[in-house]
Amino acid sequence: MASTDSLTDSLTDSLTDSLTDSLTNDLCRRLGIRYPIFGLAHSIEVAAAISNAGGLGVYAAARDGPNELARKLRDLRALCPGVPVGVDLLLPTSLPGVSTPEDIAAAIPEGHRRFVDSLFARFNVPEATRGNFFSQYVRSQALFEEQVTAVAQSDMDVFAAGVGTPADTLARVRRAGKTTMALVGAVKHAQKAIAAGVDVLVAQGYDAGGHTGNVGTFTLVPQIIAAAGGRPVLAAGGVGEGSQIAAALAMGAQGAWLGTVWLGSTEHGLPAALTDRLLSAGSEDTVITRAHSGKPCRVVRSAFSDAWEAPGAPAPLGMPYQQALTGRLLAAVEEHEVAPLMYEAAGQSVAWVREVEPVAHIVERLVRETRQSLENLRSYLPL
Ligand SMILES: Cc1cc2nc3c(=O)[nH]c(=O)nc-3n(C[C@H](O)[C@H](O)[C@H](O)COP(=O)(O)O)c2cc1C
Repeated sequence: MASTDSLTDSLTDSLTDSLTDSLTNDLCRRLGIRYPIFGLAHSIEVAAAISNAGGLGVYAAARDGPNELARKLRDLRALCPGVPVGVDLLLPTSLPGVSTPEDIAAAIPEGHRRFVDSLFARFNVPEATRGNFFSQYVRSQALFEEQVTAVAQSDMDVFAAGVGTPADTLARVRRAGKTTMALVGAVKHAQKAIAAGVDVLVAQGYDAGGHTGNVGTFTLVPQIIAAAGGRPVLAAGGVGEGSQIAAALAMGAQGAWLGTVWLGSTEHGLPAALTDRLLSAGSEDTVITRAHSGKPCRVVRSAFSDAWEAPGAPAPLGMPYQQALTGRLLAAVEEHEVAPLMYEAAGQSVAWVREVEPVAHIVERLVRETRQSLENLRSYLPL
């Protein structure tokens, strides 16, 4: 078997040779990528590896402060020189204009604090010795403005808006030469994104890991394509194998956008206890909870999500209060690897996270399966 490096090198070499390939479609040509496979990850190593393997990697930067973000985007570019790559931010428009961690802390009810303290005690979690994003920053319009500045000044090729599509932000990053994408879970969100001038829509269904609406991917994609006015649409949510990418292409999507499958990649390097949870989880082991961020979010089930569902648990707070409340606990859980409480956002596609393997192998499998499914289709239906 080829080593990861040689596999990645040969994919990168062939990428620069030519973009002619049975899976290279209009959007691929426009972006300069070989395969209609788009991958989002909270790791620059994973995003770079997806781009180096011929797809488009998108780095999810919502948890980076502005200075760190600027540095990470430089590092990301250096990891995948000469190939297109992107960055994603969460920009909910309903959050406070300016806020400090102290303002937010003062608004958290005492009962909620006691509940989180009870989880520290019940699972013997030692305090964290270092802060995390939520102890330093509050999601606010002021923070978003600084993050967008870092993105606009970067040399990323693509900008994706995960939650919210503010028109001024899209216009700014478009002026900076980036292709813009927006994740949408309903036709009305697609209409807003189109009005804001977005280039590409990502139709993200209920099956997806992360923040999600309540319409399933198979139902959502054709409706977003119908509303897109000819703009390219990508299918997201629950995609773990190539037959689903072929189905997305058959529905008229220009590609598929995947998040969960990369969690099992070597490059992600998640802690062992979390990797074990993901490897052993099936589609039925994910739950939608507001306990993660205050907004409905699909995660792999754990003692953390169970605790917030248990009788007597307080209702999760809204965004940004919930993460300000749980940040101290989750930083400690991550630092000390407290297995029962470890979780990650994950979609029903977690069923395809079955081994730890390099990103290049995942992309290669998806491409092979997609081609096979398209060939199968031709043999069933002589077209
Ligand atoms: C671990 C994880 C983190 C995510 N974080 C973000 C994010 O920060 N921004 C965003 O736009 N989407 C985020 N998503 C959603 C993905 O962009 C994507 O739409 C989703 O993963 C697709 O469904 P799948 O998980 O079944 O592949 C995340 C998904 C996962 C699994």
